[in-house]
Amino acid sequence: MLEFQCPDNGLKNKTILVTGAGSGIGRVAALSYARYGATVILLGRTTEKLTAVYDEIVAAGYPEPAIVPLDMHGATEQNYQDLAQTIEQQFGQLDGLLHNASVLGALTPFEQISQEMFTEVMHTNVTAQFLMTKALLPVMKKASSSSVVFTSSGVGRQGRAFWGPYAISKFATEGMMETLADEVADSNLRSNCINPGATRTKMRATAFPAEDPMSLKTAEELMPLYLYLMSDASRHINGQSIDAQPKR
Ligand SMILES: NC(=O)c1ccc[n+]([C@@H]2O[C@H](COP(=O)([O-])OP(=O)(O)OC[C@H]3O[C@@H](n4cnc5c(N)ncnc54)[C@H](OP(=O)(O)O)[C@@H]3O)[C@@H](O)[C@H]2O)c1
Repeated sequence: MLEFQCPDNGLKNKTILVTGAGSGIGRVAALSYARYGATVILLGRTTEKLTAVYDEIVAAGYPEPAIVPLDMHGATEQNYQDLAQTIEQQFGQLDGLLHNASVLGALTPFEQISQEMFTEVMHTNVTAQFLMTKALLPVMKKASSSSVVFTSSGVGRQGRAFWGPYAISKFATEGMMETLADEVADSNLRSNCINPGATRTKMRATAFPAEDPMSLKTAEELMPLYLYLMSDASRHINGQSIDAQPKR
């Protein structure tokens, strides 16, 4: 799956929603899904970034995407229900959901984690993803084969000093993925997790400011796994948390 070569049009006729699609790994995943034929719904909090990705996709001649400007920190359950209704009206079904957007919060000793920061990180990284998934499940179940992909982290499997709310949120993400996977085991829907590993993005640079970004993999290099989990080649994969860079 790490070497997966998506056939041309391997995602044709699929509609895939990507959160945090305006930058970082989400931007590259959105472009890759479009490249292989998917209609991509670009969700993020900064409209200009989403518009830039929209323009890139259209300029490349890929299927025209849709833009959903939404701040997952402030969004309500009703916002996600409205999103589901719009997707059903416009596309009829949703084949893929990539939960990519996350916030890092502050890396700080446990005793100095403010309740405000803890709540913000848990809301964006966990509660919002739960509400979005809950709202979108009915429209995903309309597809003959649909895939929910969550994004974990190494600190979502083993806690690390000073990574407080972010690490805790990623443990919760793994739990959400497994809980959903067990529930949908005998259905057309599957639920898995990707741990991207150290990747050259703004979040990584914020967490490790002294690191040479050129020593890191680019998001483009991780795309075989991201494509695999959205393609029908992975329809038998459910409940797995997969490292995009297993040797790091
Ligand atoms: N990079 C790594 O080394 C690494 C390692 C392990 C796991 N991960 C995980 O991989 C995923 C992508 O990370 P990344 O490195 O690409 O991060 P990034 O560069 O910080 O990008 C995060 C994306 O999420 C969006 N976002 C953040 N808060 C949001 C909100 N409230 N509402 C809507 N969108 C929001 C951001 O939008 P704006 O651009 O508008 O702010 C941005 O597009 C994350 O889940 C991260 O935890 C990354």
